[in-house]
Amino acid sequence: MKQQLENIQQRALESLEAASTPAELEELRVKWLGKKGELTAVLKMMGKLSAEERPVMGQLANTVRAQIEGKLEERKTAIHAAALEAKLADEAVDVTIPGDSVSLGHQHPMNIVLQQIKDTFVGMGYTIVEGPEVELASYNFTRLNIGEGHPSRDRSETFYFTDDDSVLLRTQTSPMQIRFMETHKPPLCMLAPGRVFRKDEADATHSPMFHQIEGLVVDEHITMGDLKGALVAIMRQIYGENSVMRFRPHHFPFTEPSCEMDMQCHKCHGTGEVDGQVCSTCHGEGWIELLGAGMVHPDVLRGCGIDPEKYSGFAFGMGLERMAMGRMKINDLRLIFDNDVRFLNQF
Ligand code: PHE
Repeated sequence: MKQQLENIQQRALESLEAASTPAELEELRVKWLGKKGELTAVLKMMGKLSAEERPVMGQLANTVRAQIEGKLEERKTAIHAAALEAKLADEAVDVTIPGDSVSLGHQHPMNIVLQQIKDTFVGMGYTIVEGPEVELASYNFTRLNIGEGHPSRDRSETFYFTDDDSVLLRTQTSPMQIRFMETHKPPLCMLAPGRVFRKDEADATHSPMFHQIEGLVVDEHITMGDLKGALVAIMRQIYGENSVMRFRPHHFPFTEPSCEMDMQCHKCHGTGEVDGQVCSTCHGEGWIELLGAGMVHPDVLRGCGIDPEKYSGFAFGMGLERMAMGRMKINDLRLIFDNDVRFLNQF
């Protein structure tokens, strides 16, 4: 029996030493110490021993049990520690690895130019305001002297919301002239940038949605000379001292007299040709139209409660995309709206 016990002890300790998971340990505990385990089986035979032998063997059996239990505990602690060690190694963070770089974006070229134009006008004393893109026909047309039946009111030109054509997507920022004169008394000086909408087919210089910047100055003794002076000063700030501009007579129902201002084409430098081909940026014109302007019509002033005998004013509306194209030397308007980062990254 002594030999049996020693044999159990040796095999049990060896097997425990080889175990590497908590599950294996539990299996071995049952195998060696359980009710149906090998040690229990030997102890059951104790009764057959003589009175002298019994206590000796009993003691030996207890020692074997204690040793196996001790080894079990020891292995349990060791396996747990090893598992923790492995987990820590696995989750370790290498703080010396360089971080992933995040590329920062920047303002859209349109916003860069808009900001520059706003800054310039603010420097000249203009107040910047914004108005609704969904506008009443009375503000967009009627109160600007654009009567019923005018071609620009046609459904083929303008996006309407209602069957009676009284609510629309504004086709220009000029309704802001009315809104501002309704709520402010002269002297007044405002700049109103914003989106406008027309049923235009998109091409190199047209888009159904584009941006305008409306300007309005009303005071005593304002003349066409003030208009020209202000606009030339702005353009020189934006395009440089040597940029070439021209004023052309024009017609707008809400200004009298009216004009348009053009900038010499930055692509063909006014020749209308590039490598013997018609310039695609200005369609061979040599000039790019930047804005419409004029002296505020007396009827428009009167309609806003301002006495045209005492006050006069000028107004202008410029196309922001056209300004940006000239400023950034962009040849096709559609690039501005495509939002291809390969294009945008260049600015
Ligand atoms: N609203 C006009 C347009 O869209 C431009 C303009 C504004 C003309 C102000 C005169 C005065 O064409």
